[in-house]
Amino acid sequence: MRVGVLTGGGDCPGLNAVIRAVVRKGIARYGHEFIGFRDGWRGPLEGDGFALDVQTVRGILPRGGTILGSSRTNPLKVEGGVERIEENLHDFKVNALVAIGGEDTLGVATALHEHGMRVVGVPKTIDNDLNATDYTFGFDTAVNIAMEAIDRLHTTAESHRRVLIVEVMGRHAGWIALHAGLAGGANVILIPENPFDVDKVCAYIESRFKTRYAPIVVAAEGAIPAGGEMVLKDESRDAFGHVKLSGVGDWLAREVEKRTGKEARCTVLGHIQRGGTPTAFDRVLATRFGLHAIDAVNDGDWGKMVALRGTDIVRVPLAAATRELKTVNVERYAEAEVFFG
Ligand code: F6P
Repeated sequence: MRVGVLTGGGDCPGLNAVIRAVVRKGIARYGHEFIGFRDGWRGPLEGDGFALDVQTVRGILPRGGTILGSSRTNPLKVEGGVERIEENLHDFKVNALVAIGGEDTLGVATALHEHGMRVVGVPKTIDNDLNATDYTFGFDTAVNIAMEAIDRLHTTAESHRRVLIVEVMGRHAGWIALHAGLAGGANVILIPENPFDVDKVCAYIESRFKTRYAPIVVAAEGAIPAGGEMVLKDESRDAFGHVKLSGVGDWLAREVEKRTGKEARCTVLGHIQRGGTPTAFDRVLATRFGLHAIDAVNDGDWGKMVALRGTDIVRVPLAAATRELKTVNVERYAEAEVFFG
């Protein structure tokens, strides 16, 4: 078989580990050939691909980013996009696709599969909000980066007795904020699933100042003040209709200063959470996803996504993974609330 591989959406550490595993096992075990498509769905849409062999994937396991490039191109929004992909795959003699991505990329994969294409999906996102898998790779790396930032902020916050707010990624799901906040001993964690009361946050902050420690607040970029709205970076939208988030941390810092009289500053971690080398956990998960994805291709098990269940890698219908997001439930948030204040 000749198999196309692409990485779409926001990048994350571990993408290269998947590509390497797919190609290495696909060639060594099954004798397949590979075409790497550049920049997510743009590659198959515009016929931009190149041969991927063992040599091409050597040395990429620890590297962040993706050797294939990524984009948020949505072929379903392009007139005749699906037909163009079909034609280009035909021209490249590609008879199967491995699509590595989050809800948007895999949403397109689901639609293409329903259209009759032979697609297998691999879940990625630092947000860990894809349904049907316990974890996505990239998440552990992002959490560790955010945890280290929180550790560092604790010491400087204490020297100056300031409120330090850390804004982390997490558009609709607060997994990064929850895990990094728990691991880093944050005093308040704000997540999109649970609109926050600014007065309550201020009360936690005041109570923290009564100890010799200074408050650290972790806020997901999608966190919303009760009765308020998500803070947007600007009004623009990508091809999947997403707005750019960021700003809730700065907004909250101003509110906290006004209401408590204490100095409050915000650090936005932004894309630092997505760059650089993956943790061991993410390298292993990404590698195992890749190995199992090429098995699914070899078995002709189309329309499936590989997923982590406990410690096993299983196959689930692509549609099940993209139907709804996996968000933080009340019980998980309550675990963290014990440490607030
Ligand atoms: O979807 C993953 C994510 O990291 C979100 O948490 C965040 O809102 C978004 O990507 C940012 O993406 P971009 O690279 O377009 O700024």
